[in-house]
Amino acid sequence: MSKTPYPLEPSPDEMHAMLSETAERLIEHIATLPEQPASYGGDGRAEARALAEGLPASGTDFHELLELILDRATPTSFNTAGPGYLAYIPGGGVFPAAVADLIANVVNRYVGVWVAAPALVQLELNVVRWFCEIVGYAEGSGGVLTSGGSLANLTAVVTARRERLPEAFWSGTMYTSDQTHHSVRKSAVLAGFPEANVREIPTNERQEIVVSDLRARIAEDRRAGHEPFLIVGSAGTTNTGAVDPLDELADLAEGEGLWLHVDGAYGGFFALTERGRAAMIGLSRADSITLDPHKGLFLPYGTGSLLVRDELALRRAHATFADYMPVMQHDPDFVDFCDLSPELSRDFRGLRAWLPIRLFGIDAFGDCLDEKLDLARWAADRLREVPGIEIVAEPRLSLVAFRLAPAGVSGADLDELNRDLLARINEKQNVYMTGTMVGGRFALRICVLSFRTHMDRMEQCLDDVRTSVEAR
Ligand SMILES: Cc1ncc(COP(=O)(O)O)c(C=O)c1O
Repeated sequence: MSKTPYPLEPSPDEMHAMLSETAERLIEHIATLPEQPASYGGDGRAEARALAEGLPASGTDFHELLELILDRATPTSFNTAGPGYLAYIPGGGVFPAAVADLIANVVNRYVGVWVAAPALVQLELNVVRWFCEIVGYAEGSGGVLTSGGSLANLTAVVTARRERLPEAFWSGTMYTSDQTHHSVRKSAVLAGFPEANVREIPTNERQEIVVSDLRARIAEDRRAGHEPFLIVGSAGTTNTGAVDPLDELADLAEGEGLWLHVDGAYGGFFALTERGRAAMIGLSRADSITLDPHKGLFLPYGTGSLLVRDELALRRAHATFADYMPVMQHDPDFVDFCDLSPELSRDFRGLRAWLPIRLFGIDAFGDCLDEKLDLARWAADRLREVPGIEIVAEPRLSLVAFRLAPAGVSGADLDELNRDLLARINEKQNVYMTGTMVGGRFALRICVLSFRTHMDRMEQCLDDVRTSVEAR
């Protein structure tokens, strides 16, 4: 095989060999995903320790490294790309997104500033504008692609702070429900607020924020000299998939002059479906919205987004200047992403979204999300038929929470019994689920969001639940 004189620059032959071996292995990996265990049953600690290594002075054969990655390291994991992953909020990994990443990393163009790659920046801007269209935002809206929902929530909190509070912002208070994702609290702290300035408002029996309590807390805080500035609503909580009454939150935020952010990291892309839109009425009235394409659009991890109703708000919060930087765009048709985001250099994540959407069309994604809504509803109905099981949270979107509640068992014993049930189900390695606390009691969750989860896997899941309940 020919070689170049430069060790960091493989020859065309070497590149072909690397790519074809990788392609072969990856296609095989995808083909066997349904048979692969849904979780890892070995000693992850030992495997991880065995792979700790010193800084290598010289190189190793590619084949050997590929085997290490795919045969040793990858199987030591939750199979987040497989059809049995029903835990937390499942991710995605549609194949063309990986191809897009390969292209993006090979051309390695710089999309932080418009002038460096105007046409490629345009492709990413198209993605942002499609997302705005999906949530019902009008012209003048905009946004940025982030590494995930946490960074999107942080960007939203900072933007709201800069739009609604003075530079000395310590008396600013923000409001969210006690079911909100923990990244919201973390965002507040990273944005410079004392943690106590985050007011977690109680929720009702459907785990939705109680708006009358929220209103009362805002009034109480105003009387005490605080400066309420932000409400964060949820369009699909991680815990149980609850959707806050977004329209009511929008009315309240409008009346009080507060910024409304909606965390739709999990649920937001269900706006592509009729049922999702019906569940999230008021979404488009939010000042900003987090959507996680690496959840609801089935893209690989590392793809989040923050959308804002008024793109200029993002710009006011983030734009700055330096002598060595190029002139930024002020034409509303164009954008310098670094002016709207904390990031300057970053990956070309837009291509990872653009290619699959152009290739498949957005309807394919909407149809797949519709299937997830059906599967979650189906699972809830079948679970209800299992003696002793009670539904703790009906699916509002694609998440159902449940527990086994036999007569005469309560308190810590009931939690223990359900933790044990979860372990029995996961032990079979056909599906992987996680649990949470709902109303102070342990519950099991099934979150259906992988584009690879279909009815056959849900039937398997229900079989595993039934046999695990019976084997108790
Ligand atoms: C509702 C919600 N918000 C925010 C996040 C954080 O997103 P990420 O993990 O992409 O940072 C998650 C993650 O599961 C989530 O479910």
